[in-house]
Amino acid sequence: MRSYHLIAPAKINLYLEIIGMRSDNYHELVMIMQSIDLADHLEIRPSGTEEIRVYCNHPEVPLTKDNLAYQAVRLIQAEFPQIAANYGGVDIIIDKRIPVAAGLAGGSGNAAAVLVGLNLMWELGLTQPELQVLGAKLGSDVPFSLTGGTAIATGRGEKLDPIPDLTNLYVVLAKYNNISIATPWAYRSYRQEYGHTYPTDIDSFPTHSQRVHSGPLVQGIVAQDGVKIGKLLHNDLEKVVFPEYPEVAQLKQIMSNLGGLGTMMSGSGPTVFTLCSSLEEAETLKEQLLIRVDDPNLAAWTARLSASGIHLAT
Ligand code: C5P
Repeated sequence: MRSYHLIAPAKINLYLEIIGMRSDNYHELVMIMQSIDLADHLEIRPSGTEEIRVYCNHPEVPLTKDNLAYQAVRLIQAEFPQIAANYGGVDIIIDKRIPVAAGLAGGSGNAAAVLVGLNLMWELGLTQPELQVLGAKLGSDVPFSLTGGTAIATGRGEKLDPIPDLTNLYVVLAKYNNISIATPWAYRSYRQEYGHTYPTDIDSFPTHSQRVHSGPLVQGIVAQDGVKIGKLLHNDLEKVVFPEYPEVAQLKQIMSNLGGLGTMMSGSGPTVFTLCSSLEEAETLKEQLLIRVDDPNLAAWTARLSASGIHLAT
Protein backbone atom coordinates (compact mmCIF):
# COMPACT_ATOMS: atom_id res chain seq x y z
CA MET A 1 0.00 0.00 0.00
CA ARG A 2 1.56 3.28 -1.08
CA SER A 3 1.43 6.63 0.70
CA TYR A 4 -0.19 9.78 -0.67
CA HIS A 5 1.02 13.38 -0.61
CA LEU A 6 -1.86 15.84 -0.76
CA ILE A 7 -2.12 19.62 -1.00
CA ALA A 8 -4.89 21.29 1.04
CA PRO A 9 -5.44 24.97 0.07
CA ALA A 10 -6.78 27.63 2.45
CA LYS A 11 -9.94 29.61 1.71
CA ILE A 12 -11.06 33.18 2.18
CA ASN A 13 -14.62 34.47 2.27
CA LEU A 14 -15.30 37.14 -0.32
CA TYR A 15 -18.80 37.36 1.15
CA LEU A 16 -20.39 36.09 4.37
CA GLU A 17 -23.99 36.97 5.19
CA ILE A 18 -25.89 35.50 8.11
CA ILE A 19 -29.50 34.94 7.10
CA GLY A 20 -31.05 33.45 10.24
CA MET A 21 -31.28 30.54 12.65
CA ARG A 22 -31.91 26.99 11.46
CA SER A 23 -33.75 24.29 13.37
CA ASP A 24 -30.43 22.42 13.89
CA ASN A 25 -29.01 25.40 15.85
CA TYR A 26 -26.64 26.37 13.05
CA HIS A 27 -26.94 29.63 11.17
CA GLU A 28 -28.26 29.75 7.64
CA LEU A 29 -25.54 31.47 5.60
CA VAL A 30 -24.84 32.78 2.13
CA MET A 31 -21.12 32.91 1.44
CA ILE A 32 -18.83 33.27 -1.51
CA MET A 33 -15.84 31.06 -0.84
CA GLN A 34 -12.52 31.33 -2.62
CA SER A 35 -9.47 29.03 -2.53
CA ILE A 36 -6.00 30.53 -2.36
CA ASP A 37 -2.66 28.89 -3.08
CA LEU A 38 -1.45 29.11 0.53
CA ALA A 39 -1.76 25.41 1.42
CA ASP A 40 -0.95 22.72 3.97
CA HIS A 41 0.84 19.59 2.74
CA LEU A 42 -0.24 16.22 4.11
CA GLU A 43 1.20 12.77 3.80
CA ILE A 44 -1.05 9.81 4.52
CA ARG A 45 0.41 6.33 4.91
CA PRO A 46 -0.30 3.03 6.62
CA SER A 47 0.95 3.17 10.23
CA GLY A 48 1.80 -0.53 10.37
CA THR A 49 -0.14 -0.65 13.67
CA GLU A 50 -3.82 -0.30 14.60
CA GLU A 51 -3.29 3.32 15.67
CA ILE A 52 -4.18 6.64 14.07
CA ARG A 53 -1.10 8.83 14.58
CA VAL A 54 -1.05 12.53 13.68
CA TYR A 55 2.26 14.40 13.41
CA CYS A 56 2.42 18.14 12.85
CA ASN A 57 5.21 20.74 12.77
CA HIS A 58 2.94 23.37 14.44
CA PRO A 59 2.80 23.16 18.27
CA GLU A 60 -0.79 24.45 18.53
CA VAL A 61 -2.31 21.74 16.34
CA PRO A 62 -3.98 19.00 18.45
CA LEU A 63 -2.87 15.47 17.57
CA THR A 64 -5.82 13.34 18.66
CA LYS A 65 -9.61 13.61 18.76
CA ASP A 66 -9.69 17.43 18.65
CA ASN A 67 -7.98 17.33 15.25
CA LEU A 68 -10.44 17.24 12.33
CA ALA A 69 -8.00 15.13 10.27
CA TYR A 70 -7.98 12.52 13.06
CA GLN A 71 -11.80 12.70 13.16
CA ALA A 72 -11.89 12.13 9.39
CA VAL A 73 -10.08 8.78 9.80
CA ARG A 74 -12.47 7.81 12.61
CA LEU A 75 -15.45 8.70 10.41
CA ILE A 76 -14.20 6.56 7.51
CA GLN A 77 -13.45 3.70 9.94
CA ALA A 78 -17.02 3.94 11.27
CA GLU A 79 -18.54 4.05 7.76
CA PHE A 80 -16.40 1.20 6.38
CA PRO A 81 -15.57 -0.98 9.40
CA GLN A 82 -14.63 -4.08 7.40
CA ILE A 83 -12.28 -2.29 4.99
CA ALA A 84 -10.76 -0.31 7.87
CA ALA A 85 -10.12 -3.50 9.84
CA ASN A 86 -8.31 -5.01 6.82
CA TYR A 87 -6.03 -2.02 6.33
CA GLY A 88 -5.27 -1.13 9.99
CA GLY A 89 -4.01 2.22 11.28
CA VAL A 90 -2.93 5.38 9.51
CA ASP A 91 -0.15 7.95 9.93
CA ILE A 92 -1.01 11.53 8.98
CA ILE A 93 1.91 13.94 8.68
CA ILE A 94 0.81 17.57 8.45
CA ASP A 95 3.18 20.23 7.17
CA LYS A 96 1.23 23.25 8.48
CA ARG A 97 1.69 26.34 6.34
CA ILE A 98 -1.78 27.89 6.80
CA PRO A 99 -2.03 29.91 10.05
CA VAL A 100 -4.12 28.03 12.65
CA ALA A 101 -7.44 29.27 14.11
CA ALA A 102 -7.35 32.02 11.53
CA GLY A 103 -10.67 31.90 9.63
CA LEU A 104 -8.91 30.26 6.66
CA ALA A 105 -10.38 26.73 7.02
CA GLY A 106 -6.97 25.15 7.59
CA GLY A 107 -8.37 22.39 9.84
CA SER A 108 -11.25 21.73 7.44
CA GLY A 109 -8.79 21.39 4.56
CA ASN A 110 -6.75 18.83 6.52
CA ALA A 111 -9.91 16.77 7.13
CA ALA A 112 -10.84 17.03 3.44
CA ALA A 113 -7.34 15.85 2.45
CA VAL A 114 -7.66 12.80 4.72
CA LEU A 115 -11.00 11.89 3.12
CA VAL A 116 -9.45 12.11 -0.36
CA GLY A 117 -6.28 10.28 0.77
CA LEU A 118 -8.11 7.38 2.43
CA ASN A 119 -10.48 7.09 -0.54
CA LEU A 120 -7.38 6.47 -2.68
CA MET A 121 -5.29 4.47 -0.21
CA TRP A 122 -8.11 2.13 0.83
CA GLU A 123 -9.70 2.09 -2.67
CA LEU A 124 -13.11 3.05 -1.27
CA GLY A 125 -14.44 4.20 -4.66
CA LEU A 126 -16.27 7.20 -3.19
CA THR A 127 -17.46 9.84 -5.67
CA GLN A 128 -16.96 13.58 -5.07
CA PRO A 129 -20.63 14.04 -3.97
CA GLU A 130 -20.26 11.10 -1.55
CA LEU A 131 -17.07 12.60 -0.13
CA GLN A 132 -18.94 15.89 0.33
CA VAL A 133 -21.70 14.22 2.33
CA LEU A 134 -19.06 12.69 4.62
CA GLY A 135 -17.19 16.01 4.78
CA ALA A 136 -20.31 17.87 5.93
CA LYS A 137 -20.45 15.54 8.96
CA LEU A 138 -17.02 16.81 10.01
CA GLY A 139 -17.60 20.55 9.56
CA SER A 140 -19.49 23.10 7.49
CA ASP A 141 -16.39 24.18 5.50
CA VAL A 142 -15.12 20.67 4.65
CA PRO A 143 -17.25 20.19 1.48
CA PHE A 144 -15.88 23.44 0.03
CA SER A 145 -12.32 22.46 0.98
CA LEU A 146 -12.75 19.27 -1.09
CA THR A 147 -13.71 21.03 -4.32
CA GLY A 148 -12.18 24.51 -3.87
CA GLY A 149 -12.20 27.20 -6.56
CA THR A 150 -14.87 29.88 -6.34
CA ALA A 151 -18.32 28.86 -5.06
CA ILE A 152 -21.50 30.16 -3.48
CA ALA A 153 -22.10 28.27 -0.24
CA THR A 154 -25.53 28.16 1.39
CA GLY A 155 -27.23 26.16 4.14
CA ARG A 156 -24.69 25.77 6.97
CA GLY A 157 -22.06 26.47 4.33
CA GLU A 158 -22.05 22.90 3.02
CA LYS A 159 -24.32 23.38 -0.03
CA LEU A 160 -22.20 24.52 -2.94
CA ASP A 161 -22.93 26.16 -6.25
CA PRO A 162 -19.75 26.58 -8.30
CA ILE A 163 -19.36 29.87 -10.16
CA PRO A 164 -16.59 30.77 -12.64
CA ASP A 165 -13.21 30.50 -10.94
CA LEU A 166 -11.30 33.66 -10.09
CA THR A 167 -7.57 33.06 -10.46
CA ASN A 168 -6.09 36.30 -11.76
CA LEU A 169 -6.15 38.10 -8.40
CA TYR A 170 -3.84 38.03 -5.38
CA VAL A 171 -4.20 38.67 -1.65
CA VAL A 172 -2.18 39.96 1.25
CA LEU A 173 -3.23 38.15 4.44
CA ALA A 174 -2.37 39.41 7.91
CA LYS A 175 -3.01 38.02 11.36
CA TYR A 176 -1.93 38.75 14.92
CA ASN A 177 -0.47 35.50 16.30
CA ASN A 178 -1.61 36.38 19.80
CA ILE A 179 -5.30 36.61 18.83
CA SER A 180 -7.42 33.55 18.13
CA ILE A 181 -11.18 33.64 17.81
CA ALA A 182 -13.47 30.69 18.48
CA THR A 183 -16.00 30.32 15.64
CA PRO A 184 -18.85 29.22 17.99
CA TRP A 185 -18.27 32.39 20.05
CA ALA A 186 -18.53 34.59 16.94
CA TYR A 187 -21.83 33.05 15.80
CA ARG A 188 -23.26 33.00 19.34
CA SER A 189 -22.41 36.70 19.82
CA TYR A 190 -23.98 37.54 16.46
CA ARG A 191 -27.15 35.73 17.45
CA GLN A 192 -27.30 37.51 20.81
CA GLU A 193 -26.96 40.91 19.18
CA TYR A 194 -28.80 40.49 15.89
CA GLY A 195 -31.08 37.49 16.50
CA HIS A 196 -34.09 39.83 16.71
CA THR A 197 -33.56 40.75 13.04
CA TYR A 198 -33.61 37.13 11.78
CA PRO A 199 -36.59 36.14 9.62
CA THR A 200 -38.92 33.87 11.58
CA ASP A 201 -40.07 32.10 8.42
CA ILE A 202 -37.37 29.58 7.48
CA ASP A 203 -39.11 29.03 4.14
CA SER A 204 -37.92 32.52 3.17
CA PHE A 205 -34.20 31.54 3.45
CA PRO A 206 -33.82 30.55 -0.23
CA THR A 207 -35.17 33.97 -1.32
CA HIS A 208 -32.37 35.66 0.64
CA SER A 209 -29.63 33.55 -0.91
CA GLN A 210 -31.13 34.04 -4.38
CA ARG A 211 -30.35 37.77 -4.06
CA VAL A 212 -26.65 36.91 -3.83
CA HIS A 213 -26.76 34.40 -6.72
CA SER A 214 -27.96 37.08 -9.10
CA GLY A 215 -26.35 40.04 -7.32
CA PRO A 216 -23.55 42.44 -8.24
CA LEU A 217 -20.70 40.54 -6.56
CA VAL A 218 -21.40 37.36 -8.53
CA GLN A 219 -21.73 39.52 -11.66
CA GLY A 220 -18.30 40.99 -10.84
CA ILE A 221 -16.85 37.49 -10.45
CA VAL A 222 -18.34 36.30 -13.74
CA ALA A 223 -16.82 39.38 -15.43
CA GLN A 224 -13.49 38.84 -13.56
CA ASP A 225 -13.79 42.50 -12.52
CA GLY A 226 -11.36 42.88 -9.59
CA VAL A 227 -12.30 46.52 -8.92
CA LYS A 228 -16.00 45.68 -8.58
CA ILE A 229 -15.28 42.57 -6.47
CA GLY A 230 -13.01 44.58 -4.14
CA LYS A 231 -15.77 47.13 -3.47
CA LEU A 232 -18.41 44.49 -2.70
CA LEU A 233 -16.52 42.31 -0.17
CA HIS A 234 -18.70 41.73 2.91
CA ASN A 235 -18.57 39.83 6.21
CA ASP A 236 -21.34 40.10 8.83
CA LEU A 237 -19.07 38.61 11.54
CA GLU A 238 -16.96 41.79 11.54
CA LYS A 239 -19.88 43.37 13.45
CA VAL A 240 -19.20 41.19 16.51
CA VAL A 241 -15.45 40.56 16.15
CA PHE A 242 -14.38 44.21 15.74
CA PRO A 243 -15.93 45.57 18.98
CA GLU A 244 -14.38 42.67 20.97
CA TYR A 245 -10.99 42.75 19.18
CA PRO A 246 -10.31 46.42 18.28
CA GLU A 247 -6.78 45.49 17.06
CA VAL A 248 -8.40 43.50 14.24
CA ALA A 249 -10.62 46.45 13.29
CA GLN A 250 -7.58 48.71 13.33
CA LEU A 251 -5.61 46.23 11.20
CA LYS A 252 -8.39 46.31 8.60
CA GLN A 253 -8.31 50.11 8.60
CA ILE A 254 -4.53 50.22 8.15
CA MET A 255 -4.57 47.62 5.36
CA SER A 256 -7.42 49.39 3.62
CA ASN A 257 -5.51 52.72 3.76
CA LEU A 258 -2.46 51.08 2.18
CA GLY A 259 -4.39 50.40 -1.03
CA GLY A 260 -5.46 47.35 -3.03
CA LEU A 261 -8.90 46.53 -4.39
CA GLY A 262 -10.68 45.94 -1.07
CA THR A 263 -10.05 44.69 2.47
CA MET A 264 -12.13 42.31 4.62
CA MET A 265 -11.89 39.86 7.53
CA SER A 266 -12.06 36.19 6.50
CA GLY A 267 -14.62 33.87 8.17
CA SER A 268 -14.76 34.38 11.94
CA GLY A 269 -11.30 35.97 11.80
CA PRO A 270 -8.92 37.16 12.93
CA THR A 271 -7.19 37.06 9.50
CA VAL A 272 -7.74 40.19 7.41
CA PHE A 273 -7.04 40.17 3.68
CA THR A 274 -6.60 42.76 0.95
CA LEU A 275 -7.40 41.80 -2.62
CA CYS A 276 -4.75 42.92 -5.13
CA SER A 277 -4.51 42.92 -8.90
CA SER A 278 -0.89 41.68 -9.08
CA LEU A 279 1.66 39.78 -7.01
CA GLU A 280 3.94 42.85 -7.05
CA GLU A 281 1.17 44.99 -5.55
CA ALA A 282 0.49 42.33 -2.89
CA GLU A 283 4.19 42.03 -1.98
CA THR A 284 4.56 45.82 -1.73
CA LEU A 285 1.47 46.12 0.48
CA LYS A 286 2.77 43.34 2.72
CA GLU A 287 6.14 45.09 3.18
CA GLN A 288 4.44 48.44 3.86
CA LEU A 289 2.11 46.82 6.38
CA LEU A 290 4.96 45.19 8.33
CA ILE A 291 6.76 48.55 8.49
CA ARG A 292 3.60 50.46 9.44
CA VAL A 293 2.60 47.98 12.21
CA ASP A 294 5.83 47.34 14.03
CA ASP A 295 4.56 44.42 16.14
CA PRO A 296 6.34 41.03 16.29
CA ASN A 297 2.93 39.35 16.72
CA LEU A 298 1.77 40.45 13.28
CA ALA A 299 2.40 37.89 10.52
CA ALA A 300 1.65 38.51 6.85
CA TRP A 301 1.56 36.41 3.69
CA THR A 302 0.82 36.84 0.01
CA ALA A 303 -1.10 34.31 -2.07
CA ARG A 304 -2.80 33.92 -5.43
CA LEU A 305 -6.50 33.04 -5.76
CA SER A 306 -6.69 29.45 -6.91
CA ALA A 307 -9.10 27.11 -8.70
CA SER A 308 -7.92 24.04 -6.76
CA GLY A 309 -9.43 22.10 -3.91
CA ILE A 310 -7.67 19.04 -2.47
CA HIS A 311 -5.20 17.64 -4.99
CA LEU A 312 -2.28 15.26 -5.15
CA ALA A 313 1.21 16.75 -5.05
CA THR A 314 3.02 16.21 -8.32
O1 C5P B 1 -19.51 23.39 11.18
P1 C5P B 1 -18.40 23.79 12.09
O2 C5P B 1 -18.06 22.70 13.07
O3 C5P B 1 -17.19 24.31 11.39
O4 C5P B 1 -18.95 25.01 12.94
C1 C5P B 1 -18.31 25.48 14.09
C2 C5P B 1 -19.31 26.27 14.92
O5 C5P B 1 -19.65 27.49 14.27
C3 C5P B 1 -20.63 25.56 15.14
O6 C5P B 1 -20.58 24.73 16.28
C4 C5P B 1 -21.57 26.74 15.36
O7 C5P B 1 -21.44 27.22 16.68
C5 C5P B 1 -21.03 27.80 14.42
N1 C5P B 1 -21.69 27.79 13.10
C6 C5P B 1 -22.97 28.26 12.99
N2 C5P B 1 -23.59 28.24 11.75
C7 C5P B 1 -22.92 27.79 10.66
C8 C5P B 1 -21.60 27.32 10.77
C9 C5P B 1 -21.00 27.33 12.01
O8 C5P B 1 -23.59 28.69 13.96
N3 C5P B 1 -23.54 27.80 9.49
